[in-house]
Amino acid sequence: MGGGRIIGWGTALPEKVLTNDDLSVMMDTNDEWITERTGIKRRHIGGSTASLSVESARRAISMAGVDPASIDGLVLSTTTPDRTVPATSAAVQHALGLRCGAFDVNAACSGFVYAYVVAHGLLAIGAKRLLVIGTDTLSRVTDWGDRGTAILFADGSGACIVDGVPDAGQLLGWDLDADGSLEHLLYAEVGGYIHMDGKEVFRRAVRIMVDSGRKSLAKAGLGVDDVTLCVPHQANVRIIDAACRQLGIPMDRTATVLHETGNTSSASIPLAWFDAAERGRLNNGDIVLLVGFGAGMTAASAVVEWRQP
Ligand code: ACO
Repeated sequence: MGGGRIIGWGTALPEKVLTNDDLSVMMDTNDEWITERTGIKRRHIGGSTASLSVESARRAISMAGVDPASIDGLVLSTTTPDRTVPATSAAVQHALGLRCGAFDVNAACSGFVYAYVVAHGLLAIGAKRLLVIGTDTLSRVTDWGDRGTAILFADGSGACIVDGVPDAGQLLGWDLDADGSLEHLLYAEVGGYIHMDGKEVFRRAVRIMVDSGRKSLAKAGLGVDDVTLCVPHQANVRIIDAACRQLGIPMDRTATVLHETGNTSSASIPLAWFDAAERGRLNNGDIVLLVGFGAGMTAASAVVEWRQP
């Protein structure tokens, strides 16, 4: 059984920017509180899950320099589909002119890592080239009257093309987890807004990120000292700080973009990962630890050996 290798990536953020000062006009909050409690300074709002997905995917396809007709599977991670039926991946597949299987994965903010791991499962059973996208438009399910959540959530997308390779490929270890008994901590009814017990989510998030990260590293036969870059879910800089500290990974070996993006759920890990790659923070052979958590309470992590496309 072969593995996978990323040959191109792309990201997309809506044009409209909402700063903490903008929010302080809309609700009883302020830049100082949001910055100190979350690390977020601004976020991008707008677009649909399909439109942002198409934008990031076109960039990934262009970077990879491949013919869209050569893609034989699309996995789109989103917890904010444009419609209940059909899956948003169908609209994305059509807009990109793909002729292949397409489906959505929903594991909330852990979704991109779930989709990336699932893609490797497809490669292992014969798929040759997959498009993996993580996109969310949380602004559409945010109650803009609730300062406990409105300061956090935003929109964005990240995509990559993963080619099948005959050797073990880049994915060295992975862990996927969920605990549905904790559903009540973070949920939105169909057509409704997100409700969140912020304190409890915070507490649980740190624990499950640490557990999941350790499991993936153990499966890869590696330790935290081998990790060149940790790419955590971009929810709150204090969660990232606490989880990385418990894992034993210093902040200067951690990728963060949340000050610019807020929490973009499925898009958060690819946005941070590919931002680090574009800044030249990754070299061939570097070990990247992706680690996410989300509603449901899902957790997902992956140990990836970086190969410059
Ligand atoms: N602006 C100003 N003051 C505020 C705000 C605000 N936006 N929100 C709350 N406060 C006040 C509260 O009323 C409270 O005041 P009091 O002490 O007078 O009662 C005080 O600030 C502290 O409020 P807490 O709720 O205790 O603040 P906390 O430090 O817990 O921070 C936060 C809240 C940022 C939501 C934090 O709990 C958090 O980040 N939790 C995790 C959230 C998360 O990661 N969610 C995403 C999960 S991923 C997914 O699947 C979508």
